[in-house]
Amino acid sequence: MSNKISFTDIKNSKEIRTYIKQADASLKALGFTEHSFAHATKCAEVAGKLLENLDYSKHEVELSKIAAYMHDIGNVINRVDHAQSGAVMAFRILDKMGMEPKDTAAIITAIGNHDEKTAFPVNAIAAAVIIADKTDVRRSRVRSKDTIYTDIHDRVNYAVEKAELKLNKEDKTLTLHLTIDTEISAVMDYFEIFMDRMLLCRKSAGFFGLTFKLNMNGNALL
Ligand SMILES: [Fe+2]
Ligand SMILES: [Fe+2]
Repeated sequence: MSNKISFTDIKNSKEIRTYIKQADASLKALGFTEHSFAHATKCAEVAGKLLENLDYSKHEVELSKIAAYMHDIGNVINRVDHAQSGAVMAFRILDKMGMEPKDTAAIITAIGNHDEKTAFPVNAIAAAVIIADKTDVRRSRVRSKDTIYTDIHDRVNYAVEKAELKLNKEDKTLTLHLTIDTEISAVMDYFEIFMDRMLLCRKSAGFFGLTFKLNMNGNALL
């Protein structure tokens, strides 16, 4: 019987919790938005649900959840190249837990290919992680309201009242529906910050043969 590590095993790992917590503490000090359990869990949910809806196997869904949950742990080392350092960390952790090399490979590939500058949907799990990560914009990621007028990332995230990713299999579209408070942030602010991310989502949706669309306050923008 092969050793299958589940998403629950990963969530229950004290070791991984410690790294996520400490990585988020560093990002807080550096002035970044929330990258803690809320972000990790949300990404796992979105990535898993996407692959499930696209009829991937239960095992692949599980692997995508694990990769998404662990994708930002490398920030505990440094923000720069955190995708690569996180992949190496995940390798050590998962290998120690006895995960099969084939599964470990899929996960570290996804983690190592998720960050903007070096991201690429090299496989389905990587594509799902990129989409889940890049679409996680929400008010609760902003740590303090004090910074929303000086920090464009905080302002844009704070302005997002609702973000929902919808898959339409018939039209072959994946649409991010955002409800934003334009009194807080102009639509242009959003584009200034998120254009690269949206292009990555487009590339990743393309991996599944889907067209990525962005809808803001009921208007189709992309
Ligand atoms: Fe990241
Ligand atoms: Fe992330």
